[in-house]
Amino acid sequence: MSLMRDIRDYRVEKGAIAIWWLGQNGFIFKSPEGTLAAVDLYLTDSCNGLHAGIDLSRRVPILLPPEELEVDVFTCTHNHQDHTDPETIRALRHKDTMQFAGPHPSCRVFGREGIESGRITPAWPDCEIEFRDLKIRGTFALPTDTSDLNHMGYVFQFGSGPKVYVTGDTDYSELLLGVTKHSPDLMITCINGGFNNMSHFEAAEIAGKIKPKAAIPCHYDMFPDNAADPSQFRASLALRAEGVRYQPLAHGEPFLFGP
Ligand SMILES: [Fe+2]
Repeated sequence: MSLMRDIRDYRVEKGAIAIWWLGQNGFIFKSPEGTLAAVDLYLTDSCNGLHAGIDLSRRVPILLPPEELEVDVFTCTHNHQDHTDPETIRALRHKDTMQFAGPHPSCRVFGREGIESGRITPAWPDCEIEFRDLKIRGTFALPTDTSDLNHMGYVFQFGSGPKVYVTGDTDYSELLLGVTKHSPDLMITCINGGFNNMSHFEAAEIAGKIKPKAAIPCHYDMFPDNAADPSQFRASLALRAEGVRYQPLAHGEPFLFGP
């Protein structure tokens, strides 16, 4: 059984996008044309033991070993290890056929881990990057601490298909509403509340103003000491984001989001 093979074999109907969640803020997106894009894949246990007194051991199994990963575009939202993981990047076997994009601190990690410079594209809030049928727009994110001040989010869109907004790690800010100019159809958002990330209630507030069709919670599942209950996000959406559907994902299962 290989999740990478399942993803490669999965057929995406026209006008739709297929999404796989691999835990934390890690997702793979697939277009009807077969283009694969990844964001913030954390495919090791490298955060385990990173901070004394904080249990950052991995709870979600590694559903896809980095050696098997084969996507067209590998993106990161910022340079924290659960988002730009040097061990994941080091172990990639197909780094010579993939493109890499992220804010500058993530680009430095790409370079250090053996990605050739011609395959690295810097990203920033409000940038636009195109790879084949994929358009990526950078969005604002408010840094959650001073260890890396280059946080950002992304809007992913294949062709004229649905626009998927990934908040990345961010504290609550009215500036997040700048993404409304892209009219995202789907929002994938942190809800954990810990370490200055948006809580389920703050994420629902933002969703209620951006008004996507549906919102997917993430970044609450990976670490014992950074966990949250996604059902609270469901309740907060009902209170603060009328008309925005709660859409939980199961790790490693395809989710097809259509027009
Ligand atoms: Fe994070």
